[in-house]
Amino acid sequence: MNIFSTPEISDSVFHVGCIDWKRRVFDALAPTPLGTTYNGYVVKGKSKTALIDTNHPDFETEYTGKVASVCSDGKVDFIIMNHAEPDHAGLIAKMLDTYPATLLTTKKGAELAGAYFGIGEDRIKVVNNNDTLDLGGKTLRFIPQPFIHWPETMMTYLEENKLLFSCDFFAAHNTTGLFDDQAEDVITWAKKYYAEIMMPLAKPARQAMDKVAELDIAMIAPSHGPVYKDPATIIRHYQDWTQGKTKNKAVVLYVSMYRMTERMVHMFVEPLHEQGIDVRVLDLSQTDMGELAGHLVDARALVIASPTVLGNLHPLVAQAATVITMEKPPVTLGAIIGSYGWGKGAVRKGLEFFEEAGIEPVTTVEVQGRPTDDDTQRIQASARELADKILAG
Ligand code: FEO
Repeated sequence: MNIFSTPEISDSVFHVGCIDWKRRVFDALAPTPLGTTYNGYVVKGKSKTALIDTNHPDFETEYTGKVASVCSDGKVDFIIMNHAEPDHAGLIAKMLDTYPATLLTTKKGAELAGAYFGIGEDRIKVVNNNDTLDLGGKTLRFIPQPFIHWPETMMTYLEENKLLFSCDFFAAHNTTGLFDDQAEDVITWAKKYYAEIMMPLAKPARQAMDKVAELDIAMIAPSHGPVYKDPATIIRHYQDWTQGKTKNKAVVLYVSMYRMTERMVHMFVEPLHEQGIDVRVLDLSQTDMGELAGHLVDARALVIASPTVLGNLHPLVAQAATVITMEKPPVTLGAIIGSYGWGKGAVRKGLEFFEEAGIEPVTTVEVQGRPTDDDTQRIQASARELADKILAG
């Protein structure tokens, strides 16, 4: 009895992915409260069969069972490695041991397949841009695009089905449905994934979008999350995100130890709301870095609110600053506010962070202890100054 489901998502294309319900964090950094999926696909032509990626090594039994079920004639001729990261390529060595197949990947992919999985050159064929592979009535076209996560990444397009196997591009850690019309909050989870993986790599992501624009796409099958029957919606969002299109939106990151800085946050946020600005306030003691990155994808302004701790930003703010510098959100405007006890420092350190991150410091306010009425006036004037800049675009 076959207990594994291998749905045919498009003519002669089978989903052989696995759902990792239990995974709660990715890259030891980004929480995955819904778990994730590792999507793999089988494309069956009249004469040849190809696997598109494999799976995470923890899912060997399930994945190999699914492939064996779809390929009941025992034939796998090609394995397409869109990406060498082990959550997709971790079973390549196993599959090459099982089937007399050839691994197709980019030049860099060949190097990484050797380094990570010990695959010899004799089992690999390097593909270049727009190379095709005929499976018999099914034609795979290879579209290398370095750094739609790692340097070896590529997408693969199935011409007859107008189906794009997009690798991590357009992916999401969303286990709520096989297809986008069955899954919940598809764009929310895709945006979070974009923020964590693609936002720091916006230039290659834009290059990938140029390549996507040249294709006639009826379906997108990414490496994590739901398959898109409606590719236009996710493509439209990716156009905005990859172009760094921002909204009249401010993200306020704060930490407060005795509620002084938190009071300042309330005072600062009021004028922003009055000006109709979308404000997201995140208490960093309760916010994960993935959530933070997701909010920054389309924010025009960043407000740092931190008490001074040992002449510095609070460590949680300093950690967030490190992540933001790496993630490179399209934020252009910044403000720093915070309370100190006997010595300043948070604003000075915050300005250093803004300089490194390329964020214009529009305004700063530092208050000793709890804010007075005069301080309230200063804080709200600062917020109005930032609001004007945000609205100016
Ligand atoms: Fe899902 Fe970059 O691997």
